[in-house]
Amino acid sequence: MSELADAEAKSPAPKRSPSLEVEHVSLGYPGRRRGEQVLACRDLNMTVHQGEFVMLVGPSGCGKSTFLEALAGLVHVGAGEIRVDGRPIDGPAKDRSLVFQSPSLFPWRDVYGNVIFGCQAQGRLDAAAKARAEAVIKLVGLGDVAHRRARELSGGMKQRVNLARALVTEPSLLLLDEPFGALDAQTREVMQDELVRMWQGSAIESSTTAVFVTHDVAEAVLMADRVLVFSKSPGTIIDDIPVSLGRPRTAAVRSSREFMAYHDRILDALYGRPTYRAEGVEVASTGSPRSTRSEVSAP
Ligand SMILES: Nc1ncnc2c1ncn2[C@@H]1O[C@H](COP(=O)(O)OP(=O)(O)O)[C@@H](O)[C@H]1O
Ligand SMILES: [Mg+2]
Repeated sequence: MSELADAEAKSPAPKRSPSLEVEHVSLGYPGRRRGEQVLACRDLNMTVHQGEFVMLVGPSGCGKSTFLEALAGLVHVGAGEIRVDGRPIDGPAKDRSLVFQSPSLFPWRDVYGNVIFGCQAQGRLDAAAKARAEAVIKLVGLGDVAHRRARELSGGMKQRVNLARALVTEPSLLLLDEPFGALDAQTREVMQDELVRMWQGSAIESSTTAVFVTHDVAEAVLMADRVLVFSKSPGTIIDDIPVSLGRPRTAAVRSSREFMAYHDRILDALYGRPTYRAEGVEVASTGSPRSTRSEVSAP
């Protein structure tokens, strides 16, 4: 049995009710000429179940961020339909949180002040919201610095605050757009392992669905229940790869043979190598010199 088939047999994916349904969605922007429409992505289709962690990978400019913004309700859906928990999206809503690469924190507010800001602004800062904020700050590992001002935090800490801010609203859909992309390699690995820990060690896992955009293939394998691979621009989904590595996943999983098999499988999908079929391929036997590069660049 191949590495991947073996992993899948060990840990079959749980089936839950659909949380996100995307049907024939195309997204675009007005072009330079009047009436012209430039497509960012085309004919996207997916069903993501509640509690699933889906990673999107694809070349730069293929429309990943545009799609995430559409899920957040920030971009108009030109064609097709997106439904969250059965309801079509028609603008931003509390049940969806978007985390960007660069955290836009209030530098003079402390960690706690940043995390509660949304609730405060909406006049919903009751005792339950305060308790939730404190719990989420501990969850992201900032319990000891809850009263430190944002401007005094490191890049990794700021991104933890950013995550806490997204989680405190208890979103049913958590959207992350290369959230660790601006961090140095070491901090990025720590944050990846931390997010995996948070995901599997708390109530988040069962109630929240995550869609996470990355250009880092190893990050995709580490986090994912499923990896969706986008084609080059205008992007469409060209592969859907379930990742059945067991959970809890620890940092050690990165050096396993199964992990490398998924990593190579995704690179094959991205670069269109004919070496892989959906199942039954021994990665070690392909014989071709394999790139050690794991980041996706523009074609
Ligand atoms: N606000 C915008 N106005 C016009 N075109 C845009 C805008 N944002 C993105 N685009 C274009 O849409 C395409 C997809 O961009 P984006 O979604 O940012 O891709 P990705 O996140 O995959 O790198 C690109 O060609 C980009 O130039
Ligand atoms: Mg982007």
